[in-house]
Amino acid sequence: MTKRIAVFVGSLRKESFNRKMAKVLTALAPGSLTLEIIEIGGLPLYNQDYDDEGKPLPAWTEFRNRVKSFDGILFVTPEYNRSVPGVLKNALDVGSRPYGQSVWEGKPGAVLSVSPGAIGGFGANHHLRQSLVFLNVPAMQQPEAYIGGAAKLFDANGNITNESTRELLLKFLDAFAAWIAKNPSGSL
Ligand SMILES: Cc1cc2nc3c(=O)[nH]c(=O)nc-3n(C[C@H](O)[C@H](O)[C@H](O)COP(=O)(O)O)c2cc1C
Repeated sequence: MTKRIAVFVGSLRKESFNRKMAKVLTALAPGSLTLEIIEIGGLPLYNQDYDDEGKPLPAWTEFRNRVKSFDGILFVTPEYNRSVPGVLKNALDVGSRPYGQSVWEGKPGAVLSVSPGAIGGFGANHHLRQSLVFLNVPAMQQPEAYIGGAAKLFDANGNITNESTRELLLKFLDAFAAWIAKNPSGSL
């Protein structure tokens, strides 16, 4: 059966390389996976008071319920100051609460980072993994995907121009499909 994967993009920029990458991954995904981008730009900043008072903001509740319905999660993110962009960290925080009701719990996942720089967002990729350990998200280790040189990676239609990157993405997606099959959501 096809597994539904929620994709979170750590950039709100119109011409975001990471959003382009998320779209490419959606198109290249094998038949066993359906990728869907979940928008996180409109999520209000997390404030624990609303949960403590039993009045979570409707946008948070909608986001939490939506994420729960997916079989897996994929993060496609740039690096901001060697770490995870605030918009993505906020989405993680919103989904992680109220305490004991995290929507991330046990959901198999993967991380791919994209940057115009040479290090390919390594810092963001690994800071994100630090949170995923705490959130009990089994995050695929291999193949690692730190995609650098993003400014030259896409043509005007958002297609990947470079065959070796395309091959890496296909390998990444195949491994991810196997990872999802091996670690079904809720099996931890
Ligand atoms: C606040 C900020 C911090 C940044 N810090 C880094 C960084 O630490 N490492 C890096 O490789 N690029 C950094 N960049 C450059 C981003 O990689 C670049 O803007 C990239 O295009 C963002 O991804 P996007 O195209 O998906 O929006 C930073 C950009 C911004 C706006």
